[in-house]
Amino acid sequence: MFITQPPPAVDSLPEDLFAAIADLKTDLKAVILAHYYQEPDIQDVADYIGDSLGLSRQAAATDAEVIVFAGVHFMAETAKILNPNKQVLLPDLEAGCSLADSCPPQAFAAFKQAHPGHLVISYINCTAEIKAMSDIICTSANAVAIVEQIPADQPIIFAPDQNLGRYVMAQTSRDMVLWPGSCIVHETFSEKKLIQLQLDYPEAEVIAHPECEPPVLSHAHYIGSTTALLRYVQNRDIQQFIVVTEPGIIHQMEKQAPGKRFIPAPPAANCACNECPYMRLNTLEKLYLAMKHRQPEITLPSSLQEAALKPIERMLAMSP
Ligand code: 13P
Ligand code: SF4
Repeated sequence: MFITQPPPAVDSLPEDLFAAIADLKTDLKAVILAHYYQEPDIQDVADYIGDSLGLSRQAAATDAEVIVFAGVHFMAETAKILNPNKQVLLPDLEAGCSLADSCPPQAFAAFKQAHPGHLVISYINCTAEIKAMSDIICTSANAVAIVEQIPADQPIIFAPDQNLGRYVMAQTSRDMVLWPGSCIVHETFSEKKLIQLQLDYPEAEVIAHPECEPPVLSHAHYIGSTTALLRYVQNRDIQQFIVVTEPGIIHQMEKQAPGKRFIPAPPAANCACNECPYMRLNTLEKLYLAMKHRQPEITLPSSLQEAALKPIERMLAMSP
């Protein structure tokens, strides 16, 4: 005789998820921090939406008891490092990042050893282990300003994003040793299709994230972090923009620059690979369930937390 296991109980979801999340937020004394690449519904329930620098600053300043992080793992981990005594929830623990994955700690330790005397500046898109091996963390919003503060004769290792690294090298006219990592989303944009799009929309300006490859960036009228791109479209007296980053940000652009047109840049293949598959693992339903059950939760060994905190604090102190 076969005894079949009953399927695991599935939580029934409330009819009004938005109201239920608002109630849970009050009960938990929680704050919801979201990145621009999250789906529109998540952006709409967030207390704060921002780029990695803004999110880190919010996490450092919050007096909420629980941080619900709608973003990817390294972002929630950074919030936990800044708040060791607070509970940090991430709707889906599988929400990783190809850039963080591209820099395994053991290989990076060997890379560091091969370059003695180098200062290590790591992009925030890395694991806590890589942060702990770094001298200073940076984001796309402050990488140029941070590198500019380092004495010219100090050799630098920049990890893990070689595209951001190259962009910073061009902006600061200084050499750095680059770890060969990259973002699968920002490397998917096709220069050929971008040129065609520019011909189709001759009035449009191209705005791009510095994680894109140099040939794509060479067509950009403006390059910046997600928050910088958002500010640019708000302030620029232009009606059309070709957006060369994850298209989740277009939701905020449409809200904050109403009436303007935003054209997502296409990936090389016929796929939706310009959407970050990690960011998109989070859904409003998972966000609700995470708050209801107070898990999945980010936890870290305290020694790692302490070692990773120092370079993040240096970044916050050096950031304009
Ligand atoms: P920003 O800090 O510019 O938001 O970048 C985060 C990110 O993961 C881009 O892919
Ligand atoms: Fe990581 Fe790229 Fe996704 Fe940003 S867009 S979270 S860098 S995989």
